[in-house]
Amino acid sequence: MRLEALPTTLSLALLLSAEDALAAPKTSSQPRELHIPLSRRPVVQRSDAEWGLWARQQKEMLESKYGAEPSRRKRTSGYNLLTDQNADSSYFGSLAVGTPPVAYNVILDTGSSDLWLASSECQSGCRNIPTFTASSSSSFKNLSESFAITYGSGKASGVLGQDVIQMAGFEVNNQIFGVCDVVSNGLLNSPVSGLLGLAWQAIASSGATPFWQTLYQNNVWDQPLMAFQLTRFQNDSQAAALEPGGTFTMGNVNNSLYTGNIDYQNIPSGAVAYWTLPLVGLNVNGNAITLPSGSGSYAAIDTGTTLVGGPNDQISAIYAQIPNSNPASGNYEGYYTYPCDTVVNVTLSFGGQTWSIAPGDFQLTQLSSGQCLGAFFEFSSGSTSAPPWIVGDTFLKNVYSVFRANPASVGFATLAVDGQGAGANGPVPTPTIGAVSASVTGSGRSHSNSARRESGAWGWGAVAVGVVVAACAL
Ligand SMILES: *[C@@H]1O[C@H](CO)[C@@H](O)[C@H](O)[C@H]1NC(C)=O
Ligand SMILES: *[C@@H]1O[C@H](CO)[C@@H](O)[C@H](O)[C@H]1NC(C)=O
Ligand SMILES: *[C@@H]1O[C@H](CO)[C@@H](O)[C@H](O)[C@H]1NC(C)=O
Ligand SMILES: *[C@@H]1O[C@H](CO)[C@@H](O)[C@H](O)[C@H]1NC(C)=O
Repeated sequence: MRLEALPTTLSLALLLSAEDALAAPKTSSQPRELHIPLSRRPVVQRSDAEWGLWARQQKEMLESKYGAEPSRRKRTSGYNLLTDQNADSSYFGSLAVGTPPVAYNVILDTGSSDLWLASSECQSGCRNIPTFTASSSSSFKNLSESFAITYGSGKASGVLGQDVIQMAGFEVNNQIFGVCDVVSNGLLNSPVSGLLGLAWQAIASSGATPFWQTLYQNNVWDQPLMAFQLTRFQNDSQAAALEPGGTFTMGNVNNSLYTGNIDYQNIPSGAVAYWTLPLVGLNVNGNAITLPSGSGSYAAIDTGTTLVGGPNDQISAIYAQIPNSNPASGNYEGYYTYPCDTVVNVTLSFGGQTWSIAPGDFQLTQLSSGQCLGAFFEFSSGSTSAPPWIVGDTFLKNVYSVFRANPASVGFATLAVDGQGAGANGPVPTPTIGAVSASVTGSGRSHSNSARRESGAWGWGAVAVGVVVAACAL
């Protein structure tokens, strides 16, 4: 039996624009969206997905121990070049859907587990957004079941469909995904048409096996790995709305993008849902912040979140180490400001090596007061069994990050190229439909759970239009 409470979803979105009074002349003139997608699904016990993973690992280990032939299917890897949207606010890649295949840009989000696209039948919230036309795909199957996802600041809803999805040379023939015809205004920002969730099935709102997990389970990957190299444009005043975003690799790592070893840390038992790691070390300019042990300091490693959110006590302890810092108010409630000439060096450790966040990544933007806004903010998940920390791109720009399915773990390594990062001087990638080197048919949905579909499992950003808007709701 699954012990699972209904999730709560919290999403906080903040829009900064240099045209506005509170804006940051020192940064990009592009509007900046800060998506803090937070969704909470308590994972109390080992879930079906975790049991399935465990069972599979036992079988594979025993088979290899006793000399069984490895799968004869050719294994491979592939990569997708990313786009950095609005000075590191979000990173998207492209995938192709249907027959004939049509390419769409999607946010790559390791903090959620569903794929959805805006529908050509979209009634609201899709203006200027490239949409998916189900009737143009001969392989599309309408599952005629509703799909709804709720965010703190909006929602997307529609139906569940099934079609061929291709990405980075991989193809899943019967991927279940949401085709959304009602999308809250501002949820999608052109040219992005939807979102690809890269976390575990346990938190899939649709109940569907995520695209990546189907590939992994069908043994088509060289290695059970997905890896990100993310570029940095936040501190580049010349940055355009769209810049090269780095590389997403599936089925292996790309050795040219990192140096040294990959320091893997296991996802704690019972927490395979998000890509969860315990945060065990946090330093600010050499001073250690005291962290609760165990699940009190679990962190979701989340490419779909711009910043870093954590418990009030630890966030205030961080700023207590920064002279003349102050809690911000109004729309910035939960954030802190500090003198812009202060170099803030935050380091994180998840049990192994210690990783630094560049001071320029901590320094989000300069406000009209002359003070700077810090990238760490107070966050309450509203659920005791949800990770209290969300570690997003503020940190992930500083490392090569590797999401390993087996054993379930997340690894970090030193980036090969400092500064803006590898590929940052190249062109902004355009969606291309490449050759398929591995094609699989997935298990579809391993369970059916209508309550889950109605409730929504993630809260990937939403941006309200306005001067400076912070929206926060449950
Ligand atoms: C799917 O079928 C439902 C009726 O069951 C219909 O209302 C909906 O428009 C269809 N959606 C798509 C994307 O084909
Ligand atoms: C590694 O990444 C670089 C830069 O994105 C790319 O040019 C190269 O083809 C990649 N190699 C592999 C094996 O994916
Ligand atoms: C930040 O602190 C770490 C650990 O003390 C150190 O290795 C790193 O060089 C520092 N970075 C900066 C930019 O000062
Ligand atoms: C942005 O920050 C990175 C990391 O601190 C630094 O290497 C780079 O020179 C900075 N770029 C600009 C344009 O200031």
